[in-house]
Amino acid sequence: MIYSSAPGKFVVMGEHAVVYGKPALALAIDMRFTLRMAPGKTFRVNGKPATNATMSPHMRWISQAHGNQPVSVFIDGRVPAGSGLGSSAALSAAYSGAVRTLSGESADHESVARESYEAEFAAQGRGSPMDTSAACNGGGVALNVPYAKKDLLWHIEKNGNAWDVSRFDVPEMTFVIGNTGIRAATGPLVEKVRKYREESEFAYNIVEEIGQLTLDGMKCITSNDWVELGTLMSYNHRLLGILGVSCPELDSLVEAALPTSYGAKLTGSGGGGCMVALTDKPEQTAAAIRAAGGTPYIVKTGVPGLEVKVREKKPANQGKKKNPRKSKRDEPSE
Ligand code: PMV
Repeated sequence: MIYSSAPGKFVVMGEHAVVYGKPALALAIDMRFTLRMAPGKTFRVNGKPATNATMSPHMRWISQAHGNQPVSVFIDGRVPAGSGLGSSAALSAAYSGAVRTLSGESADHESVARESYEAEFAAQGRGSPMDTSAACNGGGVALNVPYAKKDLLWHIEKNGNAWDVSRFDVPEMTFVIGNTGIRAATGPLVEKVRKYREESEFAYNIVEEIGQLTLDGMKCITSNDWVELGTLMSYNHRLLGILGVSCPELDSLVEAALPTSYGAKLTGSGGGGCMVALTDKPEQTAAAIRAAGGTPYIVKTGVPGLEVKVREKKPANQGKKKNPRKSKRDEPSE
């Protein structure tokens, strides 16, 4: 039996612009996808035959890359889907880690980050390796931040873009995430920005500005300047709004959070999903988000990335006292 888990993430700054090789910073959070997997006769998810609804294109892509060996997988997903918190990346990383281990291949962070990014790219047709890198490495990951390159984790190239993905440890900061409850798929929003940026010099320049803003924000982190970082995050939100990826519900959660926080912005692809606020009054910010109709989560960062463990099934009766009344039907079946 393979046990595998990987965290979701939020983006401090730089989403969308990172797709074009601009800098970004993502932090893994204490919301994880946990799964257990065993070889099976047919594909089964949570005890039922796999369907298109229960087995995502990412999972299918990864299984196919390893010879389509049928597996039975039980998934416990604590990252809300379509909410900008990297749920598909966390699932892909956990699934890839488990399938690779089952196939006798290495499930080291870099191999899984590369494979789960390929699965994401195939499913979405676009995107950066930010989410899958955060899911595998955990902690903080900086993309294309020149001075972070001393802690380079991996270099990934795709579709004419290139990313230096580096480990970036951040000091203690408190973030509150607010979920609008509106699910929005990443692919169409990334496509919307791609089209706008391609057709308009104005949008092209906004993407460039987000890149520069992110570098400025990272300097604030290094100097513990939360006031300036918050200001830059709020400005980042306005730029994302101009690119057309915010929505009234996100704007209203950001507005609600601002009086008790240093700054706030949407996180992830937008169009719904979540916003994030940097605050030192987490309870008050969470209450303001709730009062504005959102679901708040006070998140913990600095969490571990992908973890894969193998536990051999004990042969029947080993190490167990015989219980004559327990029938075979009591054994868990995968
Ligand atoms: O909404 P999420 O969690 O899939 O995050 C998407 C982040 C983008 O920058 C918009 C896309 C990407 O692939 O980097």
